[in-house]
Amino acid sequence: MDAVSQFKQALGNYPTGVTVVTANDPQGNPIGMTVNSFASVSIDPLLILWSIDRNAYHFDAFTQAKTFNVNILAADQSDVCMLFASRVEDRFGKCEWHNGTNGVAVLKNVASQLECNVYNTVDAGDHIILIGEVTSIVNEEKEPLLYHKRLFGKIPDAFYQQS
Ligand SMILES: Cc1cc2nc3c(=O)[nH]c(=O)nc-3n(C[C@H](O)[C@H](O)[C@H](O)COP(=O)(O)O)c2cc1C
Repeated sequence: MDAVSQFKQALGNYPTGVTVVTANDPQGNPIGMTVNSFASVSIDPLLILWSIDRNAYHFDAFTQAKTFNVNILAADQSDVCMLFASRVEDRFGKCEWHNGTNGVAVLKNVASQLECNVYNTVDAGDHIILIGEVTSIVNEEKEPLLYHKRLFGKIPDAFYQQS
């Protein structure tokens, strides 16, 4: 097996949650894309990261934006995940959202919303890593959506504690 196939197989052994990252394009229109490269970085200050493919349709707009929001999807939002992973026209016309306190879209019915200012960007091969400083947090009592090898799920009842 070649290195790329091995790499993909290894990363397939790392299930994730799913987010939709939103921002405004230079004209002030909302943009959004499905992202599972989201990760926690730092507590002091509060930092998170995600990475964007240089070939992503909204690459220029996302890397020019000074603020973005991370919407952590709830278990019943696989349709929202697919909507923002597609090239469907008028994606914001097909979901419920409103403007956050920073003027960037936040999606309704998500498990958590993080409003962020861009803290740093890092060149990383065919992606760019965006590091955000979290300026506002909303948490809802909702189970998160899980993603593993192109399948969706939710946290199983049998989730166990290490004894
Ligand atoms: C579960 C999932 C996770 C994704 N995570 C990322 C990501 O972290 N970074 C990224 O650039 N694209 C990611 N994508 C792809 C983008 O969502 C997709 O490229 C974008 O929404 C629109 O597609 P386009 O850029 O080809 O127009 C992911 C897609 C899915 C289905």
